Amino acid sequence: MNKKAKIIGTGSYLPQRVLTNRDLEQMVETSDEWIVSRTGMRERRLAAPSEYTSSMGASAARAALASAGLESNQIDFIIVATLTPDYIFPSTACLIQHALGAKRAGAVDIQAACTGYLYALAFAKGLIETGVYQNILVIASEKLSSITDYKDRSTCILFGDGAAACIVSTEGSGPSIEGVRLGADGEQSELLMMPAGGCRKPASIDSVQGGEHYIKMAGNEVFKHAVRRMESASKECLELVGLKEEEVAWLIPHQANIRIIDAMAKRFEHLPSDRVFKTVGKYGNTSASSVGIALDELIKEGLAQTGENILLTAFGGGLTWGAAVLRFAPFRDCSEGTV
Ligand code: UT7
Repeated sequence: MNKKAKIIGTGSYLPQRVLTNRDLEQMVETSDEWIVSRTGMRERRLAAPSEYTSSMGASAARAALASAGLESNQIDFIIVATLTPDYIFPSTACLIQHALGAKRAGAVDIQAACTGYLYALAFAKGLIETGVYQNILVIASEKLSSITDYKDRSTCILFGDGAAACIVSTEGSGPSIEGVRLGADGEQSELLMMPAGGCRKPASIDSVQGGEHYIKMAGNEVFKHAVRRMESASKECLELVGLKEEEVAWLIPHQANIRIIDAMAKRFEHLPSDRVFKTVGKYGNTSASSVGIALDELIKEGLAQTGENILLTAFGGGLTWGAAVLRFAPFRDCSEGTV
């Protein structure tokens, strides 16, 4: 049997500009108190006008390559998960391949909204374990500010920009990808979407004036699906890899809302609350990048110990959802103290 796929390096990138709840109070009728109590968010990052999904993704990728000790010409394939590509085509993956000088690599975008990182991880695991490739660069990157309506208080408080990356390989050292479970329900596609800009409704004066190039979300409905689907995907994934709930050391849920995270955490009653990793307060919801950024931070903060099981779970438009179990091992440079 082929060797199990491992994550041998991670990286992330957050733009410098901070958008606080106080800033949002100046933009829409809202309050810091409402945002904190309903979402747990205090601030989020916004990309500069000259920063794009591709440039943020390339920065995260460089950090992941450095963490794995690889050069870009050692990458065989690049998968980019995003719902805010630089262009409809060419793919953002091709732009990043060029930016990195990863000349040997094939490159493709995938779109699974906020579940994108887990979908990309699953594809990478499959391609690695079947021996198709040796080193795959997985990137999730989002410039959500480019499709957020800063006049709509029900959505603009939620979203932030940022990117995450990891290298999936059979060689080297790092957390093994024990199993991945993915799901989707296209019947609920209208709960969370951007109505215009695709072939059904190409950009027009009407679509622009109607605000149809922005994220539209039925927040309450999405909330209920999010909790239910992340719980079921997580439990199915644990069953798939033969683990009991009490064997989970860390839970990294999609950072959509602190109330969703808390509701999820309650369903894992053995897990102390400080084992549920949260970045939602400082970065908001960065869609596909969210669990990848959190995983990078958990590892770089040195919190995970060898042999611990890390459960990742995400949920998003589509609807899509998923979960993955990692078994932690340090990256190759851990012993050098430079993880
Ligand atoms: O990443 C993909 C997954 N995304 C999610 O999972 C997001 C899921 N949804 C949510 O996180 C929450 O539904 C929201 C944060 C979007 C909204 O929170 P909520 O507790 O569900 O509020 P609500 O939509 O039920 O609205 C309650 C009230 C409404 O006023 P009325 O109708 O009761 O008078 C809203 O108009 O709060 C009002 N409201 C606000 N008030 C102050 C909505 N947004 C705001 C706001 N500031 N920003």
